[in-house]
Amino acid sequence: MKTIDHNFGENILIYEGAIVPESSQIGPFSIIYPGVEFEENVKIGSSCIIGKKPTTGSNQTKLLEFTETLRIRKNTIICDQVIIYTGCNIGEDCYLADKAFIRENVNIERNVVIGTAVTVSFNAHIGSGTKIMTGTNIGGKMKIGQNCFIGAHVCSVNDNNPRLNTSRSEHQAAIIEDNVVIGSNVTILPHLLIRKGITVAAGSVVSKNLTEENQLYFGIPAKIKNKNL
Ligand SMILES: CC(C)(COP(=O)(O)OP(=O)(O)OC[C@H]1O[C@@H](n2cnc3c(N)ncnc32)[C@H](O)[C@@H]1OP(=O)(O)O)[C@@H](O)C(=O)NCCC(=O)NCCS
Repeated sequence: MKTIDHNFGENILIYEGAIVPESSQIGPFSIIYPGVEFEENVKIGSSCIIGKKPTTGSNQTKLLEFTETLRIRKNTIICDQVIIYTGCNIGEDCYLADKAFIRENVNIERNVVIGTAVTVSFNAHIGSGTKIMTGTNIGGKMKIGQNCFIGAHVCSVNDNNPRLNTSRSEHQAAIIEDNVVIGSNVTILPHLLIRKGITVAAGSVVSKNLTEENQLYFGIPAKIKNKNL
């Protein structure tokens, strides 16, 4: 059930059941699995794996259900060594840099930038116009609003007590509203809310809800910056 399609060049593997229009560009050594659907003018770099199914180990928490389709909308650019699991929607005009790693059921709206070596974990949602910089970890089920900026090496986690082995249905990374800026190296604990327009200073740890819209928070734990202190 697999085919090597030379219309796109040598050493590219496109499985039967993938929908890959002629306007697509695909780099060498990339694999496109069944259930993948590209809209027009999608560019895929070299050594990408598109439409991978998750595999489970005996000591791993149970996966959430996932669909076996993966849609990549028009004009989106995927660079080299990118892995995207099945069940995702990647909006139009997005840019995924080298080594971006997107787990199952992720929904990325239009015009989003995913930086080099960013990991987006299962069932996360990223709003249109948002940019996420190098090496950041977006935790499972995290929701990020529109036009946010997430700096480099931010770590958002989805489980407060990993040793309890709770199921993924109980895991929930933070919810971030529109126009939020998260500085580099910020850690964001699970089940929290960061309201509209907030900036979180580089290196902060967010351990409580940040509720005051458009304010600057900083420090460990992150608190509103009081200019008089
Ligand atoms: C928080 C931030 C926006 C403040 O910028 P600013 O208003 O220009 O602040 P200043 O540089 O004038 O610093 C004001 C005070 O806050 C302190 N401060 C600044 N950033 C801080 C931080 N991240 N954590 C703790 N204190 C900080 C300064 O030392 C200074 O202290 P002082 O009043 O005792 O002298 C900025 O420092 C920041 O963290 N930006 C995020 C940058 C980033 O991560 N970009 C992502 C690129 S990928």
